[in-house]
Amino acid sequence: STYDIAVVGATGAVGEAMLSILEEREFPVGKLYPLASERSAGGSVMFRNRAHRVENLADFDFSQVKIALFSAGGDVSADYAPKAAAAGCVVIDNTSHFRYQEDIPLIVPEVNPEAINAYRNHNIIANPNCSTIQMLVALKPLHDAAFIRRITVSTYQAVSGAGMKGVKELADQTARLLNAKPVEADVFSKQIAFNVIPHIDHFEENGYTREEMKMVWETRKILGDETIQVNPTCVRVPVFYGHSESVSIETEKQLTAADARGLLENAPGVTVLDEQEAGGYPTPVGDCSGQDEVYVGRIREDISCERGLNLWIVSDNVRKGAALNSIQIAELLIKSFAE
Ligand code: A2P
Repeated sequence: STYDIAVVGATGAVGEAMLSILEEREFPVGKLYPLASERSAGGSVMFRNRAHRVENLADFDFSQVKIALFSAGGDVSADYAPKAAAAGCVVIDNTSHFRYQEDIPLIVPEVNPEAINAYRNHNIIANPNCSTIQMLVALKPLHDAAFIRRITVSTYQAVSGAGMKGVKELADQTARLLNAKPVEADVFSKQIAFNVIPHIDHFEENGYTREEMKMVWETRKILGDETIQVNPTCVRVPVFYGHSESVSIETEKQLTAADARGLLENAPGVTVLDEQEAGGYPTPVGDCSGQDEVYVGRIREDISCERGLNLWIVSDNVRKGAALNSIQIAELLIKSFAE
């Protein structure tokens, strides 16, 4: 059977990737309804070599579809996801709006697929934050083998995490600076071209940014362990696609770097790229952007503590960090429909 699907935010960076991934993975799409704001309504997007008319979200009747993939920002999800769910379709929401609601499942298919059945609570499933997804795909096999107590992570996050406007700001600033023209920061709080900015999302009262706290809250919820400690620093870097992470873990059982490499080589969704020589590690450009896998390299024992390991984790934030993970959730969902 096939499923009629709405993609909310179909003209955005993640929405566009959703359309191509639905196609690549031969998801059984019946009718496809691309939705956006009235700004883009009437235009078209390509799907399966055919132009599809973009409709205005505000006028859409969600009882026409079985699944709705939302990626148009938290405010849009807050307004429309409950309406869509009430109309009878299942919402897979890429924003942070529902992630911390206890009875709404938050899923990384390689990590906690069993959580899928709780979609019935509200007809809503949340897709985690991009940085959390790639980190947990890589850490899950290590956690199963040795029980992770504490994670220290610094991220190097691409501008596409802020959508098309983030991509445009880096491109425009770079071009202007190379032409000796002045730039103004708009999407990011300071110039992002040729710079790094230790600030993503707003500041919380505890001095951490919300992006950092997402990694704490979501790791605990997805691993089902409220005791796991996460110590995050999230940084925006002038990369278009692909988030990188320097991750240090402390485990209860000892794991050697060789043990970890072996576990990761057999882990679903992971590719190990770890030669101890020039170029023997993943980087966003060339290895990871446009790919589906989570790449892990620089696997080594922590020389400053017992039972510690360091890893370098890179993945395409728009794909595995957003669109692909949502569609993998949709794949779990249609399996669960069939049961
Ligand atoms: P639109 O093209 O109409 O602006 P990105 O994350 O790349 O910035 O993309 C955001 C996506 O969310 C776009 O598809 C955008 O559509 C859509 N969007 C933003 N605000 C709304 C809204 N109020 N209603 C419907 N879609 C929206």
